[in-house]
Amino acid sequence: MTFIPHSKPSLGPEELRAVIEVLQSGQITAGPMVAQFERGMAAYIGLQGAVAVSSGTVALELALRALGVGHGDNVILPSYVCSAPWLAVQRVGAQARLVDINSTTYNLDPQKVRKARTSRTRAVIVPHMFGLPADLTSLQALDMPLIEDCAQTLGAMEQGRAVGTVGTLTVCSFYATKLLCTGEGGMVLSNDEVLLERVRALREYDKAPSLNTSAGNCKLTDLQAAIGVAQLNQLGEFLDKRSALAALYRDLLPAEVFTAPVVPAGRTHVYYRFVVRLMKGLQSADELTDYLSRLAHRGVQCRRPVFRPLHRYLDLPDFPASDEADSSAISLPLHPSLTEEAVRQAAHILQEELH
Ligand SMILES: Cc1ncc(COP(=O)(O)O)c(C=O)c1O
Repeated sequence: MTFIPHSKPSLGPEELRAVIEVLQSGQITAGPMVAQFERGMAAYIGLQGAVAVSSGTVALELALRALGVGHGDNVILPSYVCSAPWLAVQRVGAQARLVDINSTTYNLDPQKVRKARTSRTRAVIVPHMFGLPADLTSLQALDMPLIEDCAQTLGAMEQGRAVGTVGTLTVCSFYATKLLCTGEGGMVLSNDEVLLERVRALREYDKAPSLNTSAGNCKLTDLQAAIGVAQLNQLGEFLDKRSALAALYRDLLPAEVFTAPVVPAGRTHVYYRFVVRLMKGLQSADELTDYLSRLAHRGVQCRRPVFRPLHRYLDLPDFPASDEADSSAISLPLHPSLTEEAVRQAAHILQEELH
């Protein structure tokens, strides 16, 4: 039986060479490679500056701190996302206001954001889910500071604008299985140099004449940044490969059984995940769990796209779109080193195990 992993970092000779060069240089903590990676990412996204940090979660926290979000404030975020954005809001002492998603795009529903807004709302965290940009145009019209969370989406477009260029601040994650990885790592990017300077002052202690209790040690290392630079050079190829495999899944899976990702007009999808909605045969979240186990047993590693929606952890009612996604959506194996043969096999087993 061939094992088809859900995700896998694409690492090769470029990354190996880059890491060896850093080791040989003797400069292994934050140094010239971090600066090069920051310049490269800012140029790639189309922003003026970037500050590399140790993870996406830390990037979110420092972005909130840079905006001055703290006690007495609230921050809007979706329920259908990993817990990192919620945790970042807790770290800065603010209150998270969860809103539901749009059930076809899995992204924040701008109408619900409008309703959730209060006089104490200081920011909206906008994760672009699974490779598809959120409805930035409608969110921007709300005239609130947006933190674009690009942990899952790089290189996609919304109404002619590159994802990451619309918010006041943008954050990235470079966790091992992301579109671009450094093992662990994150970044805060912006055109606002004042905000970026605040992030720099928080990622490293002894950077300012007075003590700041919110500062810490959140640096990325040159070893990690060297991997990031090598990955960035190949990101275009990685995204092309993902798109080709996504197109193959679309061809192979019957649409009346597996609803493929919907790409609204004016947006592009970069397929960090290929999330399908199961239209028939499963009635509950438990049945979905059983289906995932049967697939795993046959060597096809599929996942729930979100481990547990935040409102479930917090026991909050009225998140119908998140609930629906949680009981009927699954993420299929997809990464640049996956072969077409593996996609064909996965598509075949996905259909067989449904009956
Ligand atoms: C949307 C989103 N935001 C933030 C994060 C957190 O990133 P990290 O794992 O690098 O802390 C993730 C990570 O998976 C994510 O998917």
